[in-house]
Amino acid sequence: MWISYKSPIGIFDSGLGGLTVYREVRKILPHEDIIYFGDTLRVPYGNKSVSNIRIFAKQITEFLSSFKVKMIVVACNTVSANALEVVKKSTNAYVIGMIEPGVRAALNITSSKRIIVIGTRATINSHAYSKFIKRINPSIIVKEIACPLFVPLVEEGFINDKISIMVSEKYLGRFRNSKFDTLILGCTHYPLLKDSIKKVLPSIEIVDSSVSSAYMVKDILEKNNIINKSSKIGYSKFFVSDRPQNFIELSYRLAGVKICKINIKRF
Ligand code: DGL
Repeated sequence: MWISYKSPIGIFDSGLGGLTVYREVRKILPHEDIIYFGDTLRVPYGNKSVSNIRIFAKQITEFLSSFKVKMIVVACNTVSANALEVVKKSTNAYVIGMIEPGVRAALNITSSKRIIVIGTRATINSHAYSKFIKRINPSIIVKEIACPLFVPLVEEGFINDKISIMVSEKYLGRFRNSKFDTLILGCTHYPLLKDSIKKVLPSIEIVDSSVSSAYMVKDILEKNNIINKSSKIGYSKFFVSDRPQNFIELSYRLAGVKICKINIKRF
């Protein structure tokens, strides 16, 4: 098998939302080398057509594969929902999307058997979440809601702000006294809005897929015996397709990720 435990892990997103996944992977797998790509030139993906999302996914997968990555983490729900098969076909590495880890965590939590999923338009229109949930447990009631204003709020840095609470109220306020007891953050940008969402729905359990997906990464590496055995702290290399300085600033301010060096990759 060509895959070596020493190879890096590739993580990608349309922008900085994937850093919420990067952060969790880094925390539990400190010895792994990681290559992160954020497509800051073409973000947001959530309002784009499925055919374009698939083209972007293939290009990025081929780019990450050029580093001989052992695993690709599709840290973007929009790509996971619409182009996971494209990613799998374009690489020999293990591939993890965001849908499965979030769904499994939510199914373990819900007792009312009612789950809300929020995501971008492209994720919600794909019904990837409801299909996956129903496949595991057809009796679950799923409500999928597109929240297209959330990504620009995060990208602009309005993460715990009056305006993000107002927008959360508009999208989710009607569920305050409902039987839905679990909400999946079906977009890697949304964990950064968790506090605002919690203010609107204080009693709902919020599933942050970035945490569950990081555990899935660890699990697959362990099961396939490709976890990095080095005792050195792994490196992180960051690539974006536009505005690197802005990415560095927002990464630190919003996700607490400190980036010293960044590279540009355009397709
Ligand atoms: N982070 C992406 C996701 O998880 C959404 C951002 C975008 O629309 O590009 O779906």
